[in-house]
Amino acid sequence: MRNHNLLLFLSVLVQESHGCSFGRHDHHPQAIDYTAAIQANIRARDLAFGRLGASTPSRFAISNARIFNKTRLSPPSTIIVDNGLIASIGTGSCPCRGLASIPLDAIYDANNMAILPGLMDSHAHPENTTHLEALTAAGVTTTVLTHCPSPALCASLSGQPGLTSLFRASFAATSPNSTHANLVSPSRNETTFPFLIVNMTQIPSWVASQVSTGAEFVKIIGSAPGAGLGAEAQALLVREAHAKKRRVVLHASSTLAYKQGYAAGADQIHHSTLDAPLDASLVAAFKNSPTVVCPTLAMMRAVVDALGPAEGSLEAAVETARRLRAAGVPILVGTDANAQLGFPAGGKVKFGGSMHDELENMVALVGMTPAEALRAATQTPATAFGLRDRGVVEVGKRADLILVDGDPTLDVGVAKKVRRVWVGGVEFGGKHFRVGA
Ligand SMILES: *[C@@H]1O[C@H](CO)[C@@H](O)[C@H](O)[C@H]1NC(C)=O
Ligand SMILES: *[C@@H]1O[C@H](CO)[C@@H](O)[C@H](O)[C@H]1NC(C)=O
Ligand SMILES: *[C@@H]1O[C@H](CO)[C@@H](O)[C@H](O)[C@H]1NC(C)=O
Ligand SMILES: *[C@@H]1O[C@H](CO)[C@@H](O)[C@H](O)[C@H]1NC(C)=O
Ligand SMILES: *[C@@H]1O[C@H](CO)[C@@H](O)[C@H](O)[C@H]1NC(C)=O
Ligand SMILES: [Zn+2]
Repeated sequence: MRNHNLLLFLSVLVQESHGCSFGRHDHHPQAIDYTAAIQANIRARDLAFGRLGASTPSRFAISNARIFNKTRLSPPSTIIVDNGLIASIGTGSCPCRGLASIPLDAIYDANNMAILPGLMDSHAHPENTTHLEALTAAGVTTTVLTHCPSPALCASLSGQPGLTSLFRASFAATSPNSTHANLVSPSRNETTFPFLIVNMTQIPSWVASQVSTGAEFVKIIGSAPGAGLGAEAQALLVREAHAKKRRVVLHASSTLAYKQGYAAGADQIHHSTLDAPLDASLVAAFKNSPTVVCPTLAMMRAVVDALGPAEGSLEAAVETARRLRAAGVPILVGTDANAQLGFPAGGKVKFGGSMHDELENMVALVGMTPAEALRAATQTPATAFGLRDRGVVEVGKRADLILVDGDPTLDVGVAKKVRRVWVGGVEFGGKHFRVGA
């Protein structure tokens, strides 16, 4: 079948880039030792917390900020951040009239630049703090980690001060006969961890174990038309996940996998169709359902570039996204950035920078306005993933803020001119880590 190889590479959940030959159905993926990576992540987090001292501004103002209000930039305004949250938003500049009674640790002059809610990459695979730094530097303050090979690894990446925060998946559910079974691999310590779905009976306990080890949502690999989880298994996984109050993200890169994922009741379908655009009846079905879509066009392009047009069509993937967007289906900006070298598109979609490529894809290819693309990278995913504490610059929300030099509602390419980033009120880059800063 035409897309056979393509389906192999998608989602690039490869945790071992050597010794894995394509097309081989190895029912016993090689376990990886993540111990060193976990220890390094924990050490980095301890060091970062150590540097956060009494001098770190807890209550500060950002003045002369033109705030993105979901459609446009506001006139120059002042945002007060207190203890990681947006405490107030006022017009005018600092010294902040009406707030003088509240002592501030610091005042930052935004100099009429734009303040946006931190961006959210709805699909990425960071493994270490270098990856998180690249994401944060590009203004990505929340990353959806769409496969968790090891609960310990995912935990070690979480809660890193001043770095992008994670919302993390289960182990990606797939069956032993799928090509993804060769790609996903648990950590060596966790080989007894149930990771492949072998029968229907196992599904309830599989979901329960994923949730109890920290999965914030459940990831399912839809492999059709290749071998993999059948329609019934997908539907049962969705029901069990929902019973545990977990959303479901389903990987699909063909029209048949999209159809099955929709029928299974997945909350989100990630990637886009490389075989053909979705037809009108399926688009209409999506329109009348709460399912949202994350087309990851940067990865679709990278895969087609790596494998050649005979293996699939970027145009089909783009057309599907266009049709869904035109029908009013919410679209999320996600990249599938990963560091899996050794595969055709592995390492090709870079952490952070690809977020801006995908924002531009949304405007240039999918037909969004710049403001709509920015919402698809902030408010829309926050709603879709149930993260009610972020995604907009409003009082009471997390101070996940980025300062951008220019007006990205006129040209979304301007959004890459990120000058400062705060994650939960902690500034990336650590200027404030210095005593007396
Ligand atoms: C594996 O076990 C060792 C020793 O208990 C521990 O230090 C390490 O963090 C574990 N690695 C993973 C991936 O859980
Ligand atoms: C955003 O700001 C513009 C300009 O100040 C204003 O016209 C518009 O109504 C605001 N929209 C929202 C949703 O607040
Ligand atoms: C299903 O798989 C589980 C886990 O491997 C196994 O313990 C169980 O016996 C299987 N059940 C059936 C009905 O095959
Ligand atoms: C692949 O395995 C799943 C469950 O292990 C099974 O339901 C499905 O029928 C299998 N598909 C093929 C093509 O063998
Ligand atoms: C993270 O992984 C990348 C390879 O993707 C490597 O270049 C970098 O040094 C690693 N960072 C850390 C802190 O281990
Ligand atoms: Zn992925």
